[in-house]
Amino acid sequence: SSAQTKIELTHQENAPIISKHIYGHFAEHLGKCIYEGFYVGENSTIPNSAGVRKDIIEALKELQIPNLRWPGGCFADTYHWMDGIGDLDKRPTIVNTWWGGTTEDNSFGTHNFLNLCKELGAEPYLSGNVGSGGVQELADWVQYTNFKGKSPMSDLRRENGREEPWGVKYWGIGNEAWGCGGNMRAEYYVDIYRKYATFMSNADVDGGLYKIASGANDDDYNWTEVLMKNIPKSMLQGVALHHYTVIDWADKGPDIDFNEETYFKSMKQSWLMEELITKHTAIMDKYDAEKEVDLIVDEWGGWYDVDKEKSRGVLYQQNTMRDAMIAGMNLNIFNNHADRVKMANLAQTVNVLQAVILTDDEKMILTPTYHVMNMYKVHQDATLLPLKFNSPKYSYGGESLPALTVSASQNSENLTHISFTNIDAKSNHEITIDLNELDIKTISGSILTSTSLQDYNSFNNPSKITPKNFEDYTLKRGILTVSLPPFSVVVLKALQD
Ligand code: AHR
Repeated sequence: SSAQTKIELTHQENAPIISKHIYGHFAEHLGKCIYEGFYVGENSTIPNSAGVRKDIIEALKELQIPNLRWPGGCFADTYHWMDGIGDLDKRPTIVNTWWGGTTEDNSFGTHNFLNLCKELGAEPYLSGNVGSGGVQELADWVQYTNFKGKSPMSDLRRENGREEPWGVKYWGIGNEAWGCGGNMRAEYYVDIYRKYATFMSNADVDGGLYKIASGANDDDYNWTEVLMKNIPKSMLQGVALHHYTVIDWADKGPDIDFNEETYFKSMKQSWLMEELITKHTAIMDKYDAEKEVDLIVDEWGGWYDVDKEKSRGVLYQQNTMRDAMIAGMNLNIFNNHADRVKMANLAQTVNVLQAVILTDDEKMILTPTYHVMNMYKVHQDATLLPLKFNSPKYSYGGESLPALTVSASQNSENLTHISFTNIDAKSNHEITIDLNELDIKTISGSILTSTSLQDYNSFNNPSKITPKNFEDYTLKRGILTVSLPPFSVVVLKALQD
C-alpha cells in the first residue's frame, strides 16, 4: 500500500448535469447480438416478449439503460429499413457483408426495435444509412417513425399495426463515414451531412430531432475540426467519437488469458479516452464556446481476439475484471467531462465485444461490466461534483498510468455518490476526502473485485464476480478515508444530515 492521496471537492458555479445518456448502449446486427441474442422469435421456448428475451429485458431495465443505438455500426450503412417492415414472409433477406457474411431474414426490424425501446423505457438512437441509402429513404424513415397525421409513410406504419408514432429523437447521419460508412473525406462528408439533415423533418418531435454527425476515429482531430467549421450549428446537435480499447488492431491479444503486460497496454489505450475527449473538446470550444454541440462517444469498449473454437459468434468475447476496469475508468472520464460529453454507447449490449450480457441458448449471464454500469447508474442525471487530485501511479515495465479515476455527483434527493476505479494490478491505494461542507452523516458502499484480474462470470459460475458490500472506509469529523484494493471498482453513497 502507498501514501494517502488527498481528493478535493472543488466549487464550480453551474456544475453540469451528468446526462443519463452517458450510460447508453449499442446493439448492432452483428454476430449474436440481435439474432440469437436479444431476439429469439415469438415461437422460441425461451420466455420472450414479442420475440425478445424476457431475461434480457429485465436485466436492462434494472440497469436503467437510457438509450439504445441501432442497427449499427457498419451494418447501418448497408441496412434498408423498408426491408424490415410488413409481412414476415415477404421480407427480402440481407447479407451482413461487414460481419461474417451471414444471411439475415429481416425478421427483426423497425417495429421490433422501437417497441423494445418503449418496453425498456430507453430512447432509441437510430443510425441512418448514408453510405448506401438515399436521402429519400432516410427522410421516409423519419416520417414513418414520427409523423402523427396522414402521409404515405405514417399510413404505411398504421397498415403495419402501429397507430401512434414512436417519436424518435436521436438520429445518426451515417456511421464511421471515414471508413465502412463510405471512406469519405471529412470535406465531402460535411456536404453529405448537410444534405441528408436538410430533408429530415424536425417538425414531429418536441424540440426537433437531435442529429449526430459521424465522428472522428480516435485522434483524427482534423475530422472534428472540419465538421465543426462547416456544419451550421442549427443542423448539428452532436458530433460523435469512436475509441476502442484495443492494444493493436493487428494483434488484439486474448480476451481471458492475458498477462499483466497486456493488461497494462489495455489500460493505457483505455486511459487515452481522457486525452481524446480533452483535445476534441478543445476543437469544439473554438467553434462552439457556448457548448451547444455535444460530444457523443457512441462506440467505446474493449476489443480482443477470440479464437474460433471459443467464440460463440462474430466478435463474441468473454468479459473479465479487465473489462470492469475499462468500464469504471471510462465512465469516470465521461462523468468528469459532463459539460461536453452528453451521450456514450458501450459496444455492444449482448454477445458482442464488451457486452453487459452473454447468452448461451436458454442461459444468460451478467458480466462484470454489467455490474459496474449497475453500480454507476446512480450518477444518471445527477449534478457533477468536480474533484481535484493527483492520482498515485500504476507502473509497469518502466511506464506509468494514473492508478485511480474518481467522479462524484449529487442527485435531486441530496444523495452524494462517489465512484472510484483502481486499475493498479498489485497495489491498494488509500484516499481521503474532506466532506465537511456536504454535512455527510452516513456512508454505505459496494465493491466489485475478484481474486484474479482474469476472472470472469461463466455459464457454469455466473455469480463469481458480483458487487459486495464495502466497508473499508472511515468517516471521522467529516474526513472520509477509503482503502481501494487492487483492480477494484467502489461506489459510495453518502447521506446528508
Ligand atoms: O462495434 C463494432 C464495429 O466497430 C462497428 O460496426 C463499427 O462502427 C466500428 O468499427
